Amino acid sequence: MSRSTFYITTPIYYPSDNLHIGHAYTTVAADAVARFKRLMGYDVYFLTGADEHGQKIERAAQAKGKKPKEYVDEIVLGFKDLWARLLVDYSDFIRTTEERHRLVVQQIFERLYEQGDIYKAAYEGWYCTPCETFWTLRQLVEGNCPDCGRPVELLQEESYFFRLSKYAARLLAHIQEHPDFIQPVSRRNEMVNFIKSGLEDLCVSRTTFSWGIPVPFNPRHVVYVWVDALTNYISALGYARVNDALFKKYWPADVHLVGKDIVRFHTIIWPIILMAAGVELPKRVVGHGWLLLDGGKMSKSKGNVVDPHQLIDRYGADAVRYYLLRELPFGADGSYSEGNLISRINSDLANDLGNLLHRTLTVLSKFGGGVVGPPGVPEETDRELIELARDLPGRVALLVDNLELSEALGVVWQLVNRANKYLDETAPWNLGKDPVKRDRFNTVMYNVLESYRFITVLLAPFMPGFPDRVWPQLGIAARPELHSFASLTWGRFPPGVSVERGTPLFPRIETEK
Ligand code: MSP
Repeated sequence: MSRSTFYITTPIYYPSDNLHIGHAYTTVAADAVARFKRLMGYDVYFLTGADEHGQKIERAAQAKGKKPKEYVDEIVLGFKDLWARLLVDYSDFIRTTEERHRLVVQQIFERLYEQGDIYKAAYEGWYCTPCETFWTLRQLVEGNCPDCGRPVELLQEESYFFRLSKYAARLLAHIQEHPDFIQPVSRRNEMVNFIKSGLEDLCVSRTTFSWGIPVPFNPRHVVYVWVDALTNYISALGYARVNDALFKKYWPADVHLVGKDIVRFHTIIWPIILMAAGVELPKRVVGHGWLLLDGGKMSKSKGNVVDPHQLIDRYGADAVRYYLLRELPFGADGSYSEGNLISRINSDLANDLGNLLHRTLTVLSKFGGGVVGPPGVPEETDRELIELARDLPGRVALLVDNLELSEALGVVWQLVNRANKYLDETAPWNLGKDPVKRDRFNTVMYNVLESYRFITVLLAPFMPGFPDRVWPQLGIAARPELHSFASLTWGRFPPGVSVERGTPLFPRIETEK
């Protein structure tokens, strides 16, 4: 039987500048989900990439005295380097400047034109370059862009338009019939209201700059950057190409993970493009919140960005990933501060998670020669711990499925905390001294080691570097069959292996200067 597939995407980022910690959040979240699904045995395809066209990028390149392609090539190398350093394991990286992408965008544009969904008309509108969006006078807020608040320019051009209005009713019906299509519910309601207030046809070409994909039948125009960008999710799979095996296998996407600012593009423009092109719609679009800095949006154009490289240098990729994934509850904003990051490391990682292993291995080395014997008959307090561990894989899997990653980590920490408390309650350092209590000592040690195996397997997708540091300490580095999701049935930890105390997994960060 073939394995179930799972296709997850991140937005493709603008290479107008280097990425900041807010972008890293989206990609790390998608990576954690992709890894979790792989761990569960799914055949996963995880796509990320770069959105390289548009006036903003053309201008950024000009400002640096470079040709656009030369400029984006450099920045994209930086993207890939950042993802490697953050242990992001994508299946493919799509660049909108690639030929394989251009062909698909042009083909779709042409098809929609031929079937009358795209038409030519004169146009005058207020254009926000940073947002690459036209607004009507009525939509402006105090004369500025309603999205970002920056000044807009009045542009007049002959343009191609896409009949969004024609598909509005069908899109609404789809949203009603597929309650999971837009998540969280608050964003879904927003989108429904937006569509009900009436969709205007969308201007989908530009003549004021040339850094884009030419409209195939009128190359004076380039394709509007959002139509270009959104198409990446299928062009990367070889849609409409001779070799479309990936498209056949993985489309429709299971999840498009996006920030809340771009939910509208993904739940209105993208589905309508697909409907018009006769392609199935993605199953879910999930909009996450923002990582705020000093209460406001972190943005390259405001200059208040946090460089992920510095954080990785200081704290390591696993800790940075953990912090990001723990800090933003599903769909909500969170605020970034290095102080919070340090307290998460010290309390959750060093104190709770790291110490649990360290204490256990110290006691086992001291009183058991570093070897755990087979467990005896469980007592009430053991049963409580074991039941919590047994239920954990299912509970975490469900939360990950819902993209509730912070909540999923919270559930893993229930076991971390319970196991620490269990050690306090059972005090194996006393049991170990008494030969009559050897059986009880083994039982306690066994239960904590087995709990730690569960914890390590379940944390692997969130902190991919973590298990490789734990397995040798638990003495099961050479037992990959005990590292899998499927192995999480209680009692598989092998008695008799030698544990090996290592250096602390997460050293405390000293804050006083
Ligand atoms: N190029 C478009 C996406 C096209 S997808 C077909 C774009 N690029 S972006 O580089 O500006 O942003 C990409 C993603 O980063 C968005 O989902 C955005 O929400 C996310 N983030 C940017 N700043 C962020 C935070 N401060 N916090 C969380 N996410 C943030 O939009």
